[in-house]
Amino acid sequence: MKKFFPIYVRVPVIFFIVFALMEYFIDSGDRPAFIKYPMVSVFLFVFVFILIAIEITLSAVNRVMYQLMTPEEKAKLEYENSLTLKESSWYKNLMQKLTKTQPIEREGDLLMDHDYDGIKELDNNLPPWWVYLFYICIVFGVVYVARYDVFGGDDQEIELKKEMAQAKIEVEEYLKTAPDLMDEKTVVLLTDAPSLDAGKEIFTTNCAACHRADGGGQIGPNLTDNHWILGGGIKNLFHTITNGGRDGKGMISWKGTLKPKEIQKVASYILSLQGSNPKDPKEADGEIWVDENMPKKDTAANKAVDSTQVK
Ligand code: HEC
Repeated sequence: MKKFFPIYVRVPVIFFIVFALMEYFIDSGDRPAFIKYPMVSVFLFVFVFILIAIEITLSAVNRVMYQLMTPEEKAKLEYENSLTLKESSWYKNLMQKLTKTQPIEREGDLLMDHDYDGIKELDNNLPPWWVYLFYICIVFGVVYVARYDVFGGDDQEIELKKEMAQAKIEVEEYLKTAPDLMDEKTVVLLTDAPSLDAGKEIFTTNCAACHRADGGGQIGPNLTDNHWILGGGIKNLFHTITNGGRDGKGMISWKGTLKPKEIQKVASYILSLQGSNPKDPKEADGEIWVDENMPKKDTAANKAVDSTQVK
C-alpha cells in the first residue's frame, strides 16, 4: 500500500478525510467549521504537520534500517518489494503512459548540451497528461468561441435577463392565485354584486365624508364623471387609493387602513358609479380618461383618440 501511493498522495488524502469528517460532524451553521471555530483550523494545521513529520521520519528510519541489513535480508526485502511492484504494475503502467518519464539510467541520452554554470538541461518528452490537457483546452476554446461569439449563444448577461423575465412571470402567476397580495398591476375590476356592496360599505364609512355618499364630490373630486385628476380605470384608482393623492390635497394613503382586496372592491364600486349623474355634482376636475382596454364605441371622440394613438 505504501509503495502504491507516494507521500504526496497519502498525506493530502488522510488530511482531507479528517477535514471532511470534522466538517460533517461539527455543527457550525451556515459557515464551514474551520472558519467559525479557529481551533479547528489550528488542529488541522498541526495535524498535517504531524502527518508530514511521520512520513519523513519513517522514510529516514527505513533508509537507516536498509543500511544496517545483512546481504540476505536485503535480498529478501528486494524480493518482497518486487512482488508488491508486480502487484502495482497497472499503476506503474498508467503512470508511465501519463508521464512518459525515462528511467534515470537513460538520462545520459537525454542530456542537452546546455550547460550554464553546471546547470544542465534534460530533453524530456512533454508528459502526455499535459499535452492532452492542452489539446482539450484548444478544442474547448474553439467550441467556446464558435458557440458564443460566432453563433451568438447566451452570455451571462442574457442568461440573467432571461431568468429575471422568467421570475417575473412566475411572480405574476403567484400573485394571480394570491389575491391578497394584489398590486396595481394585477388588480382587476370586480362587477359582481356582493363585491360592489362590500365596496359601497367601505366607501360610505371611509370616503363619503369627502367624496359625498353618492360620489358627487365635496372636498374630494367628483368620482362619477369621466374626468380624472390622477387617472381613471381600476389600476389607477387602486394606485391612488393605496398611495394617496398629490401632497397637501387631503387624499391620504389608505394602504395602512384597507387591505388590497378592500381597495379593489371600493375602487370597483367607484367605477360602477360612472355616469350616475348625482344631483349638484362638484365641477369636473382633471382630464377625460379613455380606457384603452375598454371595447371602443364608434364615436367621433374615440376615433380622434385612435388616430392619435396610431402615430
Ligand atoms: C379627507 C378627505 C378625503 C377622504 C376621506 C377621501 N378622499 Fe379621496 N380624494 C380627496 C381629495 C382632496 C382628492 C384629490 C387628490 C388630488 O388632487 O391629488 C381625492 C382623490 C381621490 C381619487 C382620485 C380622483 C381623481 O380624479 O383622480 C380617488 C379615486 C379617491 N379619492 C378615492 C377615495 C376613496 C376610495 C376613499 C376612501 C377609502 C377616499 N378617496 C377618501 C379627499 C379625500
